[in-house]
Order: sequence, then structure tokens, then C-alpha cells
Amino acid sequence: MDIGLIGLGVMGQNLTLNFQSHGYSVVVYNRTEQRTKEFAAKHPEISAAYTLHEFIQSLDRPHRIFLMVTAGSPVDATISNLTVLLSPGDVLIDGGNSHFQDTERRSTELAKRSVHFLGVGVSGGEEGALKGPCLMVGGNREGYEHVRKMLTKIAAQADGPCCQFLGPRGAGHYVKMVHNGIEYAIIQVIAEAYDLLTRAIGLDIKEVHDAFNEWNQGDMNSFLIEIATQVLRKYDEEKRVPLVSLILDRAQQKGTGKWTSQNAMDLGVPIPTIDAAVSARNLSALKDERLQASKILKPPAKSSYLERSLVGRLKDAVQASILVSYAQGFHLLRAASREYGYDIPLEEVARIWKGGCIIRAKVLDSIENAFRSSKDLQNLVLDRQLSKLLLKLEKNWREVIKGAKDAAVPIPATTASLDYYDGYRSERSPANLIQALRDRFGAHCYERIDRPGKFHTDWTT
Ligand code: 6PG
Repeated sequence: MDIGLIGLGVMGQNLTLNFQSHGYSVVVYNRTEQRTKEFAAKHPEISAAYTLHEFIQSLDRPHRIFLMVTAGSPVDATISNLTVLLSPGDVLIDGGNSHFQDTERRSTELAKRSVHFLGVGVSGGEEGALKGPCLMVGGNREGYEHVRKMLTKIAAQADGPCCQFLGPRGAGHYVKMVHNGIEYAIIQVIAEAYDLLTRAIGLDIKEVHDAFNEWNQGDMNSFLIEIATQVLRKYDEEKRVPLVSLILDRAQQKGTGKWTSQNAMDLGVPIPTIDAAVSARNLSALKDERLQASKILKPPAKSSYLERSLVGRLKDAVQASILVSYAQGFHLLRAASREYGYDIPLEEVARIWKGGCIIRAKVLDSIENAFRSSKDLQNLVLDRQLSKLLLKLEKNWREVIKGAKDAAVPIPATTASLDYYDGYRSERSPANLIQALRDRFGAHCYERIDRPGKFHTDWTT
């Protein structure tokens, strides 16, 4: 058998079928036997193993194993059951949403046994797994060579395969984590647009659908806006209303967006749009408290809806906020690449994100070009073409935010994006006062603009 797959959740099943449809022989194994039996009954053409020993025995050498088990301790448990059966030179791939630091640790442990470990970020959901995911590969380069052909074949295609080796150890999972942070930010920006269009401007869901659909035709074309139009089209047959209006407004999360924010804080990289998106999910989850608060802290009385002309302006605000979300994500990748010695090719990240993954979008063409023409680009907002675009969008972006504040509709990610943009391009910040206050209460010292050195002042006299 060419490859073995462990973990028959939907993603694992679909990846198996993807490998098989590309002409590879696959053997599957799942911890609970029943699931393997069900899968084998449905797909008799695929081999099934019921013990790990039997599983390994059926594989060609070097053994190539793809793990699709839940991130966290299940990955460690599976690896620990497997290690006695593995030989030097075998290739073990973790395709789950593992924390990159777990991948770092596992890489070190497995390297001691000469097992080639790869941490691969797999994006695209169930459909992507079946028809072509985006594969963000990190880990042992030599190991990658044993599976490169297979992985590039099953991946989505967009100017080449959406599968790329991005760096050693945890690099692939790191890039996937940031992908998810950007995913959170874009989803939040889209949700805020929907909120403004309905609550502040008074559009019905059909009109919101039409606006999104129009946005999706041009430069803003993206998978997430496209699926937003699909979602808004869906009706509840029984109640005869758009299904979205019947969904409880409490967002869940599995933690990858939070990890992005946590790590960005550790590295001192500002990613406020992603932070705002994570916090907005947390706030949404406080449904009972929000209900209570809405009775006490009544919003200002609304005399009328905001002008409809804001719909066109909102398009610019969404486009700008999405672009800034990518800028923050890439800024973080750049910093992490240095900090962890990953040497991530950012232009290749932009390229493989153009297909298969959740944040695929037309704007990634410009992002890829930006990094191809300047490898040292500090921040995407500084790119010649993208900076021009932001300057063009800025006026409407600001107008929309003013409107939202008047209407008391929260748009934290859109606002954080503009504040980031305004902050990043500000020659002077008010941090001089922060420094003075720190020195006043804690003698933390400050630097001056007129001479070098560290200074402390007795501020009380
Ligand atoms: C992908 C997604 C996926 C992620 C979900 C859910 O790239 O296919 O990022 O890996 O698990 O989007 O994430 P949350 O449950 O945290 O929203």
C-alpha cells in the first residue's frame, strides 16, 4: 500500500477517497473498530486494518502514514502507539489542526528515532479534503520528498499545486494557525457588514444577499463572501424565513484564532483585527448576559435607518478591512519566521492560499505579487499597489464606521482594521505620554527625541 491513513472522521475519510481517486492504494485504521467497518462496507475498494500491527505490515517502505486524529492528546496517544512499529526513515504526517508548539516537540522526539515527521496544515473543510485541499507543509525536508508527489497530486491547483514545503518543524502548522486567525477576521468583517446592512440600514436578507453577490463579482471575489451568499439564500421550509435568522447568535470556536492572538502577543506583533474577531466570538457567547444588559443599557432611540448610500461605501470598508486582516497575518508570519527560524516563503504562502483553503480570494493575486516583487516587504500595506488601493478605500471606510457608531451597531473588526491602518501610518503616537506616566509612577525611564540615552525625571517637583 502506498499510504496509510489513521482517523476516519469526515476529513480522514475524504482524504482517503482523494488519495484513492488519484491512483494511490490506501489502507485505513481507526481507533474504534465500528467506524472502520462502516467505512470498509461503503468502500470495499479501500483496504482496512483492525490493528496497528496489521496496518503497518500492509504498507510499502518507507512507511508513509497520514494522521487525521483530533488535535491534542489523541495525536500524542496515536504517536506513542505507533512508535514501536515505526522504523528509521518512515514518514509520519500529522494533518490535524495541531498547535505548532506541539508539532515542534513531536518533531524533536521523532527525530531521535530517525522518523521523518511532517506537520501539515490541511485547509478546505470536508469538500477540500475530498476534491483538493490546500496543504501547508512543515517538518523534515527529506521526509517531504517521500510524499511530495502524492501530496501535490491530491492538493487543489492554483498556479501550480496548493501544496508547499514552508519550513522545518512546526512551520506548516504555524502557517495554518495564522490562516485560521485570518479566517476568523474575515468571517467577523462579513458578519459585521451583515449586521450593519440589516440593523442599521434596514435591508432585508434578500437585499443583503444581493449586495454580497455583487461584491463577489469583482476584486472582492472570495470563497467566504461566496458562501455567505449561499447561506443567505437558504430558507427554512417550515417557518418560511431565511434560515440564518433562526440560528442562535452564539459563535463557537475550537481555539486556533485564539492561538494566533496569543502567539502574536508573545511575539509583540499587533494583529488587532484578529484579536477583535476572537473577542467578538467570546462576547457573542455571553448570550444570557447580553440579554440582561440589553434591558438595562438601552441603545439610543433610533429615529431612522442610515442612508442606503452607505451600502456602496460599506463595500469599500469590507474590502479594506479584509486586506488589513491579511496584512496583519502576513506581518505575524514574517516575525515568526525569524523568531523560530522557519524561513517561510511568504510569496508561496500567498500562492497556495489561492486555492483549496477557506481564505482563498482574488486579492491573494496582488498579495503574491507584492511579495514576489519585494521579498523584504515589511507590511503589505506598504506595497505600491495595495497602499494605493487602501488610500482610495479610506474615505468610505471611515464614513461607514462613523455611521455604525451613530447607529450603535458594533463593528469591532472593521473599526480595529481602520485603527491599525491609522496607527501604522502615524509618524507620532501618544506613547510619549505613556512613557512619561510609566516613569512617573515606576521610574521606568524614557528615551528622548533630542538626545540619546535613558532618562528619569522627578515629576512631582
Ligand atoms: C480550514 C478551517 C478548519 C477549522 C474550522 C473551524 O482551514 O479548513 O480553518 O481547519 O477547523 O474553520 O474553526 P473554528 O471551529 O475555530 O471556527
